Order: sequence, then structure tokens, then C-alpha cells
Amino acid sequence: MLDLGCGSGGNAAHLATLGMRAVGVDLSSGQLQKARDWWGDAGGMELHQGDALEHLAGTRTVFDAVYSVFGAAWFCDPGLMLPAVHAGLRPGGVFAVSQRPPVEGCYGCQASYISRGPDEDPAIVKRWDYELDVWSALLKEYGFLDVTAMVLPAPEDGKRTVGTLLIRAVRAGE
Ligand SMILES: C[S@@+](CC[C@H](N)C(=O)[O-])C[C@H]1O[C@@H](n2cnc3c(N)ncnc32)[C@H](O)[C@@H]1O
Repeated sequence: MLDLGCGSGGNAAHLATLGMRAVGVDLSSGQLQKARDWWGDAGGMELHQGDALEHLAGTRTVFDAVYSVFGAAWFCDPGLMLPAVHAGLRPGGVFAVSQRPPVEGCYGCQASYISRGPDEDPAIVKRWDYELDVWSALLKEYGFLDVTAMVLPAPEDGKRTVGTLLIRAVRAGE
């Protein structure tokens, strides 16, 4: 299993404790340090610091599943991410993504400024937001089958109303 943008590693650690080989990649050395501190004894977990696309380009491992939980798949151009994930999956392997749904009318690449210090330029974070039918079409265009794209509603008993966009697709067999 490959976790793109694993952050502090909770999801990869969970899979490792279930007996799977869980590989996590993240840009942030701080997040990975937390993962090592918190889950260091979870055998079967392997962490790499770096960019998800560069990791996919540089690995010879072919995975049963590639997933991203509000992670790198949201922050990489799907025109680059989807072919890289396709190449990193075995035929029949699963790609699964969660992220926030798009804000109505705001589609494609969205940029946010994140404040840093008073003497520093803000950081710029780009993310890619699309409607469900556009995600489905993109995944099919890059060779995925059995595509499902849906928005899981926010829990009814909470104050939050924004749900979670879930995408699942299978790499075509050969
Ligand atoms: C919102 S956090 C989610 C972390 C984790 N998946 C979780 O569920 O807790 C997003 C993570 O994606 C990482 N990230 C963003 N772009 C990335 C990229 N291009 N390559 C690798 N990691 C990336 C960030 O460093 C951050 O740790």
C-alpha cells in the first residue's frame, strides 16, 4: 500500500498493524518525525520524505493500492498524478482518494496564500478541485475502470456541513 501525503502516518500505521506493507511519502520532515515518534514500532511501515510524484517516478515497487487521505493527490496536478499512480499500481490495483468537495463555481487549480511571519511572503498552496463527473472522466481518460466518485455527507449530529469527496478507481488489467 502506498500513502501519498501520509502526514503523521496514522493511516499507514493502521494498515501496518493489520499486517500489510505500508509505505508513506510526505514532503514534511516534521510530519514524518511525528510518524516515527508515534508509530515507530509499527513493523511493516516504511516512510519516505519527498514529493509524491517524484517518489512514484523513482520507485520500482508496484502497489496493490495507492491512496491519499486529504493528501498529496489533492495538491498535485491530476494530469501528472493520475498517470504516475497508474504506473505505480498492479493491474487490478485500487486508487482511493479523499479530500474536500469543490466549492461551487471554483473548479480546476485553486491557490491559497498561507500566512507565515510578518517578514515572510505567504506560502502558496495549490490544490485541484473538480466536480464528481469531471473526476470520473479524468480517471477513465488515464486508464482507470470501475470509477466511483461521491460526496459523503457531514455527520447529521455535528455543526459542520461540508462533506468528504471520495474517489475509488481500479487500474485496468492487462
Ligand atoms: C492535510 S495533510 C493530511 C495528512 C494525512 N494524510 C492524514 O490524513 O492525516 C496533507 C499532507 O500532504 C502532504 N503533501 C502535500 N503535497 C505533497 C506532495 N506533493 N508530496 C508529498 N506530500 C505532500 C503535506 O506535507 C501534508 O502532510
